[in-house]
Amino acid sequence: MTATCPAPSTAPDPAPAAAFPIADTACRVVSNEPVNAEYRLLLAEAGPAALTAEAGQFFQLKCPPTTLDRPFLRRPMSVYRIDRQNGQIGFLYKVTGKGTRGLSTLVPGDTLEAIGPLGLGFTLPAGTRHVLLVARGVGLATLTPLVQMARAAGAEVTAILSARNPAMVMSRDELAAQGARVIEVTDTAGDSDMAQVEALLRRLHAEQPFDFAATCGSNRLLQLTKALSAEWQIAGQAAMEAFMGCGMGMCYACVLPVTAPSGETIFKRVCREGPVFSIEEVQSW
Ligand SMILES: Cc1cc2nc3c(=O)[nH]c(=O)nc-3n(C[C@H](O)[C@H](O)[C@H](O)COP(=O)(O)OP(=O)(O)OC[C@H]3O[C@@H](n4cnc5c(N)ncnc54)[C@H](O)[C@@H]3O)c2cc1C
Ligand code: FES
Repeated sequence: MTATCPAPSTAPDPAPAAAFPIADTACRVVSNEPVNAEYRLLLAEAGPAALTAEAGQFFQLKCPPTTLDRPFLRRPMSVYRIDRQNGQIGFLYKVTGKGTRGLSTLVPGDTLEAIGPLGLGFTLPAGTRHVLLVARGVGLATLTPLVQMARAAGAEVTAILSARNPAMVMSRDELAAQGARVIEVTDTAGDSDMAQVEALLRRLHAEQPFDFAATCGSNRLLQLTKALSAEWQIAGQAAMEAFMGCGMGMCYACVLPVTAPSGETIFKRVCREGPVFSIEEVQSW
């Protein structure tokens, strides 16, 4: 019996063509240190292609095998630091499973294989003056380079960092050093529930109106930011996650339901049409 392969699709790829170089770079690890009980910061030397990364883009990292695990697929990781002056990129990652356990074994001088930059990052509308960042957990890693981008565009940034407790609030120094106003809310302090965060955002908006909002890392914060952006009629974007296979648009492992302008639900690839989407179209984190 013979099997027939379907003819390759000739339909155009709906995502905009990547306007930046993508490379598989062998990066020399500079450091890989814990920042708290769950997260580590991995810094590596990067080539010119990797250094074109923009806020919200990601890399597919090859995770080294350990005595216990042999991770097959690469793991997606947002770029956390883009240090073009010193030729380094950084990743802030949570050790969750076999891939990230492998990453945690890298030591200075080792090689980190990183494909990227991948996906579509954040886009600030021209003339943006005040950016609101709302992040929790891993969202802090993804949103941090947006401060660099916003400040370079002349905008002020207010970052709301939500976490279980103060030890889990990452990036506060990095964000403040880049010129963001940083406000922490934590479960232990009792000020991270949605009613209090909403009151805080409304007060901040009344003091100095936001004209762009970005969020990542929590479904409840996404719904709140989405509702307020609509009410205030400001642009917003959300960085999303999905389990990935190829990370490059080919396997459709990462599709996410989103709302089309017509109101119908359609599916988009997080790795190709995302990971950053307009806040109106995303449905849940
Ligand atoms: C575009 C993108 C950017 C990301 N950026 C970061 C980042 O900056 N820092 C960071 O720590 N993580 C980030 N992640 C998540 C990271 O890719 C996963 O934590 C990682 O793949 C887990 O691999 P693992 O083998 O260690 O764990 P696995 O053994 O695969 O999984 C361990 C646990 O993590 C959960 N998990 C795994 N992958 C995901 C995912 N994509 N979304 C939600 N839960 C998941 C699983 O359900 C499981 O409970 C990002 C994911 C995407 C898609
Ligand atoms: S991970 Fe393969 S298409 Fe997105």
